[in-house]
Amino acid sequence: MSAKEGRILSLDFKLREGNPLRVKSGVLVLASFEGDGLMNIVKKVDEALGGSLSRISQEERFNGELGKCVMLNTLGRIGSDRVLLVGLGKKERFSPDVLRKAGILTAKKTKPYTGSISIGIDIGGHNGNTSALIEGFMLGSYEFDKYKTGNKKENSNRVIELFSNKIGERGFKRELEFARIISEATNFARDLVNEPPAIITPTKLADIAEEIAEKEKLGCEIFDKKDMEEMGMGALLAVSTGSDEPPKFIHLTYEPRRRPSKTVAIVGKGITFDSGGLCIKPRDNMRTMKMDMSGAAVVLAVMKAVSSLKPSVRVHGLISATENMPGGKAYKPDDIIRALNGKTIEVIDTDAEGRIVLSDALSYAVRLKVDEIVDLATLTGACMVALGGYTAGIMGNDERLINKVIKASRLAGEKVWQLPLDDELRKDIESDIADVKNVGGRWGGAITAAMFLEKFVGDTPWVHLDIAGPAFNEKGGDLYPKGATGFGVRTMIRYILD
Ligand code: BES
Ligand code: ZN
Ligand code: ZN
Repeated sequence: MSAKEGRILSLDFKLREGNPLRVKSGVLVLASFEGDGLMNIVKKVDEALGGSLSRISQEERFNGELGKCVMLNTLGRIGSDRVLLVGLGKKERFSPDVLRKAGILTAKKTKPYTGSISIGIDIGGHNGNTSALIEGFMLGSYEFDKYKTGNKKENSNRVIELFSNKIGERGFKRELEFARIISEATNFARDLVNEPPAIITPTKLADIAEEIAEKEKLGCEIFDKKDMEEMGMGALLAVSTGSDEPPKFIHLTYEPRRRPSKTVAIVGKGITFDSGGLCIKPRDNMRTMKMDMSGAAVVLAVMKAVSSLKPSVRVHGLISATENMPGGKAYKPDDIIRALNGKTIEVIDTDAEGRIVLSDALSYAVRLKVDEIVDLATLTGACMVALGGYTAGIMGNDERLINKVIKASRLAGEKVWQLPLDDELRKDIESDIADVKNVGGRWGGAITAAMFLEKFVGDTPWVHLDIAGPAFNEKGGDLYPKGATGFGVRTMIRYILD
């Protein structure tokens, strides 16, 4: 699968100086703050259009709110065919993330129109604003339509001009490059998740990992079933037994040029399809379960991007990949499994397979003697019940590391919310006949899942991101693509760069 697939447009960003009012383009993009009236430049355009911009804003009750916009045809009264006025929300709450959202919206709203796009939003100097706006545009341009046979749009080139007198060509280039790396990585993860489960098998994930390693000069080890048996990865093996697809354990390594300042492991849940296994899911819950490898997709995307970003940390990318299927040989409720670190797991429910496959990966990360572990997993429906479809749950055994990842998520514009590892709840996963049960009681399912994982990280500082909600958006929206979102890629990149 090439990185371009799933996207039609190639985007060509240019820095322009001068007056955006004079420019000839398909769409001129302007912005206003909420309740702040029209900015100077917008006033000028409004005048040139005989006041129709303010009239249409009034008519559509547009008041500069973030996520809202109005579009109008200029009927040839200025150089551009259309004007798009996007809201930036309250002035006091302005941040690069606001520009990222404005960029996403701009890309979505201008998509149907031909011609170049001139962005006359004041982006200031070299401070991350330009990169956030471009990142937004690149993210908002994403579409997964490679399987639609009719109506193929041409592989056209779109020119986007950014007007700024402040940033300068060199600063612009740098911000453009950063935006490109981040959004290509995110869109790559989206492609992996959106592909059907018959295509993205554990073997395919391993092949893609090998391709990435070769291209980006990363270390790569793929463990197959025999290797896992020799190593004692009883947990990943157990989950794989119901499937005809062989499981894979993937280990990618990025080594910085200079002595690494620290070593981190990012670990992804790679269930390429979660049917629930013998505790099979009801039909409605089974649909979308191709997305159960979203954590793995984040790991692959970050490892693909990391060599261009050149951080000073050593990064291990680890993935436990298998299907979770019912079958004659499938693992069963009541089974007792032995994970790589020797701990035993009593299986209560075969649909709580994510934590089981992660137990081997986390044990493996501990063996690597890493300084920090972050895992990403579409782990529990309970986390979606708690936090909804836009926010990931964050939990861990080290407040410092948790805060570091929260900070990274804020910079990235991805929402996370901490849930507590509750000592009183921990007894819910105690087993009478093994070291731990794979399911707790009825309540606090996201937390008991995390406390299960905790048993396999020892003393290593560790953070768990439950991305079950934000990884996949069934409906899509103005600020979200339909389907895979690539949630986590941007947070992990910021975390690694910190
Ligand atoms: N992959 C699911 C979690 C999930 C649910 C992700 C919905 C995205 C959307 C996971 O393997 C699972 O099935 N978890 C169970 C655990 C239960 C059996 C304790 C769940 O959340 O229902
Ligand atoms: Zn499951
Ligand atoms: Zn699952």
